[in-house]
Amino acid sequence: MDKLVITGGRRLAGEVAVSGAKNAALPILCASLLTAEPLTLSNVPALNDIRTMLKLLEQMGVKVARDGDSVTLDASGLGNPVAAYELVKTMRASVLVLGPLVARHGEASVSLPGGCAIGARPVDQHIKGLTAMGAEVSVEHGYVNARATRLKGARLFTDMVTVTGTENLMMAACLADGETVIENAAREPEVVDLAQCLNAMGARISGAGTDVIRIRGVERLTGATHRIMPDRIETGTYLCAAAVTGGDVRLTGTSAGYLDAVVDKLMDAGCDIDSEKSPSHEAIHLKAPRRLKAVSIRTAPYPAFPTDMQAQFMAVNAVAEGTAVIRETIFENRFMHAVELIRLGADIKIDGNTAVVTGVDKLTGATVMATDLRASASLVIAGLVAEGETTVERIYHLDRGYERLEDKLAALGAVVRRQKA
Ligand code: EPZ
Repeated sequence: MDKLVITGGRRLAGEVAVSGAKNAALPILCASLLTAEPLTLSNVPALNDIRTMLKLLEQMGVKVARDGDSVTLDASGLGNPVAAYELVKTMRASVLVLGPLVARHGEASVSLPGGCAIGARPVDQHIKGLTAMGAEVSVEHGYVNARATRLKGARLFTDMVTVTGTENLMMAACLADGETVIENAAREPEVVDLAQCLNAMGARISGAGTDVIRIRGVERLTGATHRIMPDRIETGTYLCAAAVTGGDVRLTGTSAGYLDAVVDKLMDAGCDIDSEKSPSHEAIHLKAPRRLKAVSIRTAPYPAFPTDMQAQFMAVNAVAEGTAVIRETIFENRFMHAVELIRLGADIKIDGNTAVVTGVDKLTGATVMATDLRASASLVIAGLVAEGETTVERIYHLDRGYERLEDKLAALGAVVRRQKA
């Protein structure tokens, strides 16, 4: 398995381009199942999770053509509405084919994703919503089997805010008979990006970005072209990497608007951050002090501090001045990076879903192990400031969600190299 070897102590400076959003691209790729016409997407990031989703769609009979960061998908010849365990177990977001398959093809058999490192990750709300729309759903032998001649519009309420739950149900409702209202909907920007793509395909969605989304079902959707929004978590990750090294970095092709909570916390920590926005260009510029101040965070659904930035911010607090309290309220097991940061010399006390981080003057390099996508990013950030060499193992986790991470960091002055297995 590949490793990343980082020599800490370099201040990041310069400019790097942010890629398209993984968590917008994944549901939008599945939206291709809702139409027999070609859907062309641009700014699609080159990530392992994207490759996995494209493989899953091709297994179902979707024709996929790639040209640089553009992908054209044609689901006119769909034959096999099955998402098999072998693929689904490697990427939970596969569950996003469920709603579109039932809506347009009347049936679907999708393996239960199973848990992952950060939690049990159930999909009961996806099932509850489809059932409320008239689908017959059974769960047996590890698969969700759903069928419906035509889904009916319904008033849906999710027990908790669920991003892919909202996305699955929104896609299913596009072709339902009548109007669907999703209450307690996720407000994440990726949900809004999906709704914009669906409306370009002829859907009639309003309220995306609020906690009440209305979808008036239509008979069919057409093809469309859509540009994937920038990846706000990649953006936040590089902002944290720059901040912790006392850096001066410009991130292009992205906007602070998707990350107010993270930008606020980095400014509280002592960074100067400004956004540049013009019709043809958007960027964020961060200048950090030599040492940051510790800042407490509490994760929650958008627009609050995103759980996907918690691990990265723990690395920032590990070397900040003072003590910070980090509360993780979304996933039950999302502190696995803490024990690895402690191996680098961090002072972190975990109590349930709360971590108390007391900043230390320095971390020292060591070999550490990545356990999940964002935990890996946290270890890379710590390695950038740790004295000496840090080797991050099992970086296949990183390759799922970060495009050419070592190249982008090296372009900002980091000393980092990939050690092939
Ligand atoms: C999405 O996962 C993201 N993935 C995650 O990003 C992100 O961490 C998460 O939203 C929260 O923002 C994609 O968009 C592909 P949820 P998702 O459903 O939709 C519980 C990354 O690093 N829940 O919003 O699976 C669930 O257990 C990944 O890019 C149920 O109980 O998350 C969790 O506690 C990691 N039943 C909470 O809700 C359900 O049916 C929020 O989960 C659904 C969810």
